[in-house]
Amino acid sequence: MVQQYRITLLPGDGIGPEIMAVTVKVLEVVAQQEHIEFSFQEAPIGGAAIDATGVPLPDETLEMCRQSDAVLLAAIGGYKWDDLPANLRPEAGLLGLRAGLKLFANLRPAKILPQLLDASTLKPEVVNGVDIMVVRELTGGIYFGQPKGIFTTESGEKRGVNTMAYTESEIDRIGEVAFATAQKRGGKLCSVDKANVLEVSQLWRQRITELGKKYPDVELSHMYVDNAAMQLVRNPKQFDTIVTGNLFGDILSDAAAMLTGSIGMLPSASLGSDNPGVFEPVHGSAPDIAGQNKANPLAQVLSAAMMLRYGLNQPVAAEKLEAAVLQVLEQGDRTGDIMSEGKHLVGCQEMGDALIKVLVGK
Ligand SMILES: NC(=O)c1ccc[n+]([C@@H]2O[C@H](COP(=O)([O-])OP(=O)(O)OC[C@H]3O[C@@H](n4cnc5c(N)ncnc54)[C@H](O)[C@@H]3O)[C@@H](O)[C@H]2O)c1
Repeated sequence: MVQQYRITLLPGDGIGPEIMAVTVKVLEVVAQQEHIEFSFQEAPIGGAAIDATGVPLPDETLEMCRQSDAVLLAAIGGYKWDDLPANLRPEAGLLGLRAGLKLFANLRPAKILPQLLDASTLKPEVVNGVDIMVVRELTGGIYFGQPKGIFTTESGEKRGVNTMAYTESEIDRIGEVAFATAQKRGGKLCSVDKANVLEVSQLWRQRITELGKKYPDVELSHMYVDNAAMQLVRNPKQFDTIVTGNLFGDILSDAAAMLTGSIGMLPSASLGSDNPGVFEPVHGSAPDIAGQNKANPLAQVLSAAMMLRYGLNQPVAAEKLEAAVLQVLEQGDRTGDIMSEGKHLVGCQEMGDALIKVLVGK
């Protein structure tokens, strides 16, 4: 039976349209092989939407996303829109999309590809084999807790305040995503908190421990955030899946990503419960190389693989895409950002052609 999915494509700005075009071609090949039928619909977001409609996230774009099975986003932003007020800048489109789809879980993998071992700043023996997924809570914690603001004390001194707060239900829903993610991976989950100092973390630890009873097949551990930061650079191979709150996750996911050393290779997923997920590369719109066929499309292709695995539950198709990426790297194809001596420099489109060749076995 053919599985049908409606996918909203948001190419955005800069290199976005180039890497999206390549990814769609590659996805169509995998779809045919795996009895999947994609119906792609495209909508503007970011600078492209500002130019077309005056706002970074038109209502029609958000509605189209809501009506689809998954959203594949490239990148937004560029010099042209930098002087606009904050609520009309391209980034506001991205924040609006996340809020509009109630995406509370952010998944960021950091996987070392043996072919790109040299790109890491750490010793090969430390990073070889690293395969981590950071699950970060995205809509709660200290970034949103009340009260927040800069207030004046009775003595006339200014005082900056933020509040770190999580409710049980907020912890439970990110916990569920994290346990389910660990089940699809290596079966190990490390929950990161600061329960030795923070009450909010004590509640976090209690709830995650309680939830763990529902997932006896997942090996749960807990770690304080300061130790986790240290362990990530000391011995990153000990981690499989990490779950943590908004602030700790913001920091740890960047640190974990940089173990790989190459920004053009990093995908991500943002998930909610009642709406489709958004799958996008970690990198920005790279305006410095836009329109020159120089962009690395692999983070976008790997984002499409995450869409297949976590958004559409099509793990076989996801594995095919990931294996194709490994194979083109193995045969020495490199875009400029990951180029090294003795390898074969290719453009964005040629990288796509190489992936398709591998997929069809020619
Ligand atoms: N999620 C997003 O859409 C997102 C994320 C970060 C930045 N941005 C926006 O992107 C614009 C540029 O920001 P920036 O320069 O800080 O970050 P960037 O990630 O766009 O670029 C940083 C550097 O990495 C290179 N690079 C990035 N992706 C690449 C790829 N796929 N292939 C080859 N090289 C690649 C760029 O050429 C540049 O030299 C800004 O407007 C920023 O607001 C958007």
